[in-house]
Amino acid sequence: MEIKSVGVLGCGLMGSGIAEVCARAGLKTVVREVDQGFLDKGLAKIHGSLGKALEKGKLSVEARDKTAANLSGTTRFEDLAGCDLVIEAIVENLEEKRRSFGALDGLLRPEAMLASNTSSLTLTQLAAGTSRPDRFVGLHFFNPVPVMKLVEVVRTILTSEEAFDSAMRFARAVGKEPIACKDNSGFVVNRLLVPYLLDAIRALEEGVGSVEDIDKGMQLGCGYPMGPFTLLDFVGLDTTYFIANIMFDEYREKRFAPPALLKQMVQAGRLGRKSGRGFYDYGKK
Ligand code: 3HC
Repeated sequence: MEIKSVGVLGCGLMGSGIAEVCARAGLKTVVREVDQGFLDKGLAKIHGSLGKALEKGKLSVEARDKTAANLSGTTRFEDLAGCDLVIEAIVENLEEKRRSFGALDGLLRPEAMLASNTSSLTLTQLAAGTSRPDRFVGLHFFNPVPVMKLVEVVRTILTSEEAFDSAMRFARAVGKEPIACKDNSGFVVNRLLVPYLLDAIRALEEGVGSVEDIDKGMQLGCGYPMGPFTLLDFVGLDTTYFIANIMFDEYREKRFAPPALLKQMVQAGRLGRKSGRGFYDYGKK
């Protein structure tokens, strides 16, 4: 199936990026948020990003206008009814995701596909609750979505070959490089990345080095674009905490267990860049 129109559930950090790359690739894109306030904020983020691309000469005025014309926002699930593919990018919470897929499933055409951008929940439990488990895949994008080239395309034991192939083609059509992944919590990237980030926090707890020195060590010693604490602040400490808990529940291995300091920082509202303070201080938001 060729995907020409896309619905995106959620217009936060990931949803707005996904909607942007879809609209820029020429696909009709409808993004849905829970209320008008969140929707306005999400759409402003996309238009801000397009404006920056225009300023930098990465996007022509014509391409910006076409992208904007491809993009619309709504608070109603009904407005996604005509989409060929709907990608869910809401909060990393199983019940919330199940509720959203439940509300949407009956509205879509039978041949339409569903996808989740979940980073750590296994997909089978989401797919099995819908009427189209054979057309349900994982499409895991990376932050910042307009920049990062990778999409993990995840198939469950219920996914059909046709749906998986359509998802791989879709990822390429929006300018990304797909890799095929099995339905395991964390897939490829977070399976390796999350223990590394959590270990950096443990190293800090143990006094191995300061935030700045651990970051500098990994940046200059390994050529990583960001040290682990800069990346933790960038991804969001709450998001990392949710992901670590889900992966720990799944694997019961210590390397996935969230360290006490991560939990305390989330409890204290130090969520990283988005709240103005995490391991670093970004000034008042
Ligand atoms: N939107 C669009 N473009 C952006 C952007 C954004 N949000 N952020 C940066 N860019 C662009 C800039 O415009 C710039 O483009 P140019 O070189 O053509 O001018 C380019 O990216 C580089 O940006 P900067 O010069 O401002 O800054 P850096 O060189 O430091 O790069 C970075 C920024 C690309 C974010 C880089 O630091 C990086 O790759 N960091 C690692 C990010 C990462 O690991 N992401 C994965 C997180 S894990 C995840 O998402 C999975 C989830 O499940 C947890």
